[in-house]
Amino acid sequence: LIDLRSDTVTRPSPDMRRAMAEAEVGDDVYGEDPTVARLEARAAELVGKAAALFVPSGTMANQLAIRAQTEPGDALIAQTGAHCVTYEGGGAAALCGVDALRVGADGAITADEIAVALPPDDDHFPRARLVCLENTHNRSGGRALGVRTQREIAALAAERGLRLHLDGARLFNAALAAGVSVRELAEPFDTVAFCLSKGLGAPVGSLLCGARDTLRRARRFRKMLGGGMRQVGILAAAGLYALDHNVARLAEDHAHAARLAAGLAEIPGLAVMRPPESNIVVFVAPDAPKLVARARERGLRMNALDARSIRAVTHMDVSASDVDRALATLRECVT
Ligand SMILES: Cc1ncc(COP(=O)(O)O)c(C=O)c1O
Repeated sequence: LIDLRSDTVTRPSPDMRRAMAEAEVGDDVYGEDPTVARLEARAAELVGKAAALFVPSGTMANQLAIRAQTEPGDALIAQTGAHCVTYEGGGAAALCGVDALRVGADGAITADEIAVALPPDDDHFPRARLVCLENTHNRSGGRALGVRTQREIAALAAERGLRLHLDGARLFNAALAAGVSVRELAEPFDTVAFCLSKGLGAPVGSLLCGARDTLRRARRFRKMLGGGMRQVGILAAAGLYALDHNVARLAEDHAHAARLAAGLAEIPGLAVMRPPESNIVVFVAPDAPKLVARARERGLRMNALDARSIRAVTHMDVSASDVDRALATLRECVT
């Protein structure tokens, strides 16, 4: 079986499981879990923020960032197709009472587009409070926002009094694609979320990083949502292991995505939307659900995004020879 549905499907390695089994733990709701404390300190240091909060999922990290930096009736601005306003069950509306303005296309977004979309300062309109940028952008096929674009948006946000959140579920992929450190990429943001359970290969967990007062508010909302966890150092240990061992190898996933895209381009009837910038490839097929079903029968799993497009994601459990086998399977399926 070759599973290209997502980079969330990886399983913890024996060494990661050993680190989990040996973790020192305490009750984290009382702030007494030393392994969680180590992970939070490490995350804060990595992204260059004062504090970090360990949460169960990327979804919770995003929703806490939104809830902590807005009030009901406010508006947030996000890329069209952004996870936080597309794939989080309507959380921004239901949990935060926030209206979402979607800007740009295909994962791209500019400061000028945001400036045009901002509602006027008038009682008729929601009050714009927060810009959420997703880097890399999942729905568009892992597109990476450049450092310059982020800085221009940060300058606009500062000028208009908007807070800036980074959904960096794949922050390390984004930094690799931009050729900068994670800290440099994260620098313009008030809050930064990143996931341990995607390319980094941990079974669960995300971090929300930012200033202490913002995170104190987020911690309270985490409790409200039932996200206060107890002897969770067992999971934090997997995160620490992932940060120690699984960051450098992300370049392999990017290379495998490029190899997959090059092979797909040679299969008649299939077309890659654009060369992949990270570990996600989106390609077009005349009948995407049918192709996905056929491939599945032959042991290759992918996700149809809609009637015509398919997403394939490379990750630590996919080798170069798996990519070649996936291409051979797809060639069989279209003939
Ligand atoms: C860009 C992005 N943000 C947030 C999330 C949510 O992460 P989780 O599945 O841990 O809730 C995902 C999940 O795929 C994602 O791709």
